[in-house]
Amino acid sequence: MKKLTYKFSNSTVNYYFAAGFSLLKKITEEKNSIIITDENVYNAHEKKFKGWSCIVLKPGEEYKVQATVDAVIGQLIEMEAGRQTTLIGVGGGVITDITGYVASVYMRGIPFGFVPTSLLAMVDASIGGKNGIDVGVLKNMVGIIRQPGFILYDMDFLRTLPQNEWENGFAEIIKHAAIKDAAMFRELEAGSYKKFQSGKKAISDLVQRNALIKTNVVQQDEFEKGDRRLLNFGHTLGHALENQYELSHGRAISIGMAYASVISQKLIGFSKPGRVTGLLLKYDLPTFADFDKRKVFEVLKMDKKRERKEMNYVLLEKIGKGVVKSIPMKELEKMIYEL
Ligand SMILES: NC(=O)c1ccc[n+]([C@@H]2O[C@H](COP(=O)([O-])OP(=O)(O)OC[C@H]3O[C@@H](n4cnc5c(N)ncnc54)[C@H](O)[C@@H]3O)[C@@H](O)[C@H]2O)c1
Ligand SMILES: [Zn+2]
Repeated sequence: MKKLTYKFSNSTVNYYFAAGFSLLKKITEEKNSIIITDENVYNAHEKKFKGWSCIVLKPGEEYKVQATVDAVIGQLIEMEAGRQTTLIGVGGGVITDITGYVASVYMRGIPFGFVPTSLLAMVDASIGGKNGIDVGVLKNMVGIIRQPGFILYDMDFLRTLPQNEWENGFAEIIKHAAIKDAAMFRELEAGSYKKFQSGKKAISDLVQRNALIKTNVVQQDEFEKGDRRLLNFGHTLGHALENQYELSHGRAISIGMAYASVISQKLIGFSKPGRVTGLLLKYDLPTFADFDKRKVFEVLKMDKKRERKEMNYVLLEKIGKGVVKSIPMKELEKMIYEL
């Protein structure tokens, strides 16, 4: 186990890497804690939850809504949760988002921590303090920025993670490499799912490295005024595609990253779009979609990153170095039609 502590603007987060679930007992008092998890995680790892009070939710993004939050609050009241209660989200990003949000509004805020169980939650969703829910088709429309007290990493959970969820996680890992870490990009080029799924140390190291990349970016820009926007690499077009078509988040942003690499080549002379698409393909992620340009551009115009007539777009200067460029909407439209 390796404990690292990071300071954010008004709180401290303890990371427990390469830990076992049993360490939880040492971090928080069992009798003053309530675990929030989902049925998939609970059923696959039932033994681990023995002795803990649990609220087990139905799995899936469609449950990341206010109605679930209300139901959880009702259960917390019934369980007599108070200000000294710690909520622990044990699950993927849906569970960590719901847990962080509920803990932030219940009694105006109680302590919380995470045990991320999907690769995506380990390297992305559990980090950074954004916790929110969806409203209709609008993702993460309502929420709060508040850091968890701790994040505990138990790699044993990944044993039961379905392959398509590995792909979602690797899309974000490749994103981190592309914008921040050329050495990790090369290691991913030399690696494979086989390597990371069979070697406990390999995946544990990779997860830790990615968790810290995101942590560093967030730490420098907790409230998203600058550098944090780099984490949106592939996400502008990706979100628009995800909204329009039945695509997983990982596959959508993979296509978004491939196109952003081509746009980077056209606008700022990025010379290696082929390496980006090559790496995505290596991890079974798509790099192309035959999409309705007009429809997707309509959605893209609504993106949160737009500022009047310009869009802040994340591009690559080189492998390992992302930059935010403001592109006039007219020019972006033209480029998307040319893709
Ligand atoms: N707060 C943030 O900064 C942030 C960042 C990125 C993503 N997110 C959010 O995270 C969510 C996506 O996260 P996700 O991909 O983890 O989704 P998820 O929570 O829906 O998990 C994906 C699926 O894997 C299952 N699962 C999780 N761990 C498992 C395990 N160990 N064994 C077997 N099954 C397991 C879940 O039950 C679910 O069916 C989205 O709602 C997204 O908006 C938030
Ligand atoms: Zn993402």
